[in-house]
Amino acid sequence: MTTQLPTPKSGILDIAAYVGGKSKIEGVAEPVKLSSNENAFGCSAKALAAYDEARAKLFRYPDGHANPLRDAVAAYHDLEANRLVFGNGSDEVFALLNQTYLEAGDNIVTGEHGFLAYRISALACQADVKLAPEPDQRVEIDRLLAEVDDKTKIVYVSNPANPTGTWNTPEELVDLRERLPSHILLVVDEAYAEFVDEPTWETAFPLARHSENIVVTRTFSKIHGLAGLRIGFGYAPLSVIEAIERIRLPFNANLPAQYAAIAALSDQAHIDTSKAQVVNWRPRFYQAIRALGYRIEVSAGNFVLIQFKDEAQAVRANEHLMTKGFIVRHVANYGLPHCLRVTVGKDVENEGFIAALGTFAG
Ligand SMILES: Cc1ncc(COP(=O)(O)O)c(C=O)c1O
Repeated sequence: MTTQLPTPKSGILDIAAYVGGKSKIEGVAEPVKLSSNENAFGCSAKALAAYDEARAKLFRYPDGHANPLRDAVAAYHDLEANRLVFGNGSDEVFALLNQTYLEAGDNIVTGEHGFLAYRISALACQADVKLAPEPDQRVEIDRLLAEVDDKTKIVYVSNPANPTGTWNTPEELVDLRERLPSHILLVVDEAYAEFVDEPTWETAFPLARHSENIVVTRTFSKIHGLAGLRIGFGYAPLSVIEAIERIRLPFNANLPAQYAAIAALSDQAHIDTSKAQVVNWRPRFYQAIRALGYRIEVSAGNFVLIQFKDEAQAVRANEHLMTKGFIVRHVANYGLPHCLRVTVGKDVENEGFIAALGTFAG
């Protein structure tokens, strides 16, 4: 007799599971990990102290509405506290939005090199993912809108974008909002906002404030160096918050994360130092990488994207870097098989990386 196995609903086994940045190299005791856009300086000492303080409270459930954190975020970013939703990383906020708005057969629209987390949870809702071409590795509003159809429920734009490092201007986002039908949600993912140093970039918080269909997300994983704790948030219209709150699990934002995130916001010096490291190093990377003969464009995030002549060369470079103890990210699954993404690290790590790439034979 054959045993009938539990069968995942249709489409689940077609989803390519997310593959995170590697953290080990066989035979290398302490590799330099520049593959996940983490903060090279770690988190603030204040956040660590708050995390320690949370130890005594671990037997308690966290505040289910993250009220102290809610107030801290609202004050820091000048937002209405009741328009915030917290998640186990901003990834969970995307998943909540997808679960709330997508039915089977609906679709989301994003750029062809857009962040994979939007897609995975949309596919889990049996929705389709429509990818707009990104000429010059940059999201174009006309191309995004060209993908929108009567089944589209959410458009995702990461600004700045990972892994390309490109960004959209406030004028472009206003244009998108004006031309997007009002029943479609526009999610602006600002995971890398704090690293931007471009006069042609602005946060979408003010745009979202007066809109009924814009959600802006942020994370504590990047500039605040709390990736391991998993905490992020969305700023959304009240109607969206009210819908999401019905399916948000009661204690999705864990207690140490809430403690540490509040403290992280209070340490402006750590935020500034972390940004300065990235702002100082990005141009040094452009110069050094170009001098080695590879293509690299301006990035607004805490990472740079190195473009090799083809996939084979990118793969060889990646292998070479690993033999030198450097872990970077080959971003083939973002539709960029000829590229390696490198997170800005500490001085010695960045210098070491450039020297290691310099010994790559090509
Ligand atoms: C564009 C973008 N959005 C969101 C995230 C996820 O952030 P979180 O750690 O808050 O889930 C990342 C992480 O790499 C990212 O690159």
